[in-house]
Amino acid sequence: MVLAPPRAPGLDGTILAAAARRVSSSGAITFLVDGDAVTYVAEGDAVTVAEGRDDGATAVRLGRRAWDDLAGQLRTFVNLLLSEELTFERGGFRQLSDWDPVLRYLHGGVPPYDPARSDLGGRDPRATFTLDTDDAELAAQLGAMGYLHVRGVFDAGEMAAANEEVDRLAAEARAGDDRSWWVRAEDGSTALCRLVYTTLRSALLAGLEGDARVRRLGTLLDPALRLAPDRMEGSAVLIKVPGRTSGLSNIPWHQDCGMGGHAILCPSVSVGIQLTGSDATRGNLLVVPGSHGHAIHYRWQDCLEDVPVLAVDTAPGDVTVHVQDLMHASPEPTGAGGRRTMYVTYYPAALWDHVGPGEAFNDLVRNRTEQVARLNRP
Ligand SMILES: [Fe+2]
Repeated sequence: MVLAPPRAPGLDGTILAAAARRVSSSGAITFLVDGDAVTYVAEGDAVTVAEGRDDGATAVRLGRRAWDDLAGQLRTFVNLLLSEELTFERGGFRQLSDWDPVLRYLHGGVPPYDPARSDLGGRDPRATFTLDTDDAELAAQLGAMGYLHVRGVFDAGEMAAANEEVDRLAAEARAGDDRSWWVRAEDGSTALCRLVYTTLRSALLAGLEGDARVRRLGTLLDPALRLAPDRMEGSAVLIKVPGRTSGLSNIPWHQDCGMGGHAILCPSVSVGIQLTGSDATRGNLLVVPGSHGHAIHYRWQDCLEDVPVLAVDTAPGDVTVHVQDLMHASPEPTGAGGRRTMYVTYYPAALWDHVGPGEAFNDLVRNRTEQVARLNRP
């Protein structure tokens, strides 16, 4: 049975050659799928695919459904590892990480991120805007950078009311309630770091979620995108816990489709309502401008040079917008922590064909955040 899907249409030979060169030192990789095998070999500037061959330096075993999901950009190899649907016969995580961007380009046409190829359209990554800026300009900035910072969208009274409501939901939250994420704080206690599906139990937050200002910013790139309050964790509120926590309060570099769903989620757009201000001391958002729409090596800091990184510091009532496959992070606060951001996401209609009420790709990590965080340790 043929395993390798046809090459994605319109692949660029130069990009493929660069990808092949980057992976050649990792050796060939074999996928063992039920009783079949396929081996990918990088030689010089080319990647060849040999059906039926089982001689890669790395060999990955998985079932047919898992393979189809991987090749179809529905689930990532990290997702399959965490679900224990992928094991290594030879080689391991590092070699598969190296091959992942190449395979994503071959199978899905998602080009590997390379800062040298990044085109920011002559725009300033640090530019900020207000709601007085016209839609075409806001959309052009968001399209070029993958994120947008709009100042003063909400006033102090609106943010104070939202924070009171978050206080109420936080007081009701319990570890394991499937409506919240928790981490272990420095003193060993558990601490709340995220509330999910918030608008299903708060009329006030539902009002923010449906606010015309949020809709305007969430649909700048595509007016057909829609809210999903009852799936994909709905509208979530991030709460930055201070100190060296264990778990997923401080989120390492990631794309929001890192657990899977690229083929159906991207390019969805998240609107971040800044309920508090943010800077390095409270915890802030770090972004790689222009990285959206690309496949990014899982350990890109080890293998890419001159990657631009920008901190997006905000005041209460500001709004950040990001395309979900933008490379971004939420590092450990250097001071007291406490940033609160409410994320309202707009999705393509295809989401509703694949993800039912109460379902999310993050279901895999919500109650296992310490296990997931361990993947990021060298
Ligand atoms: Fe994220």
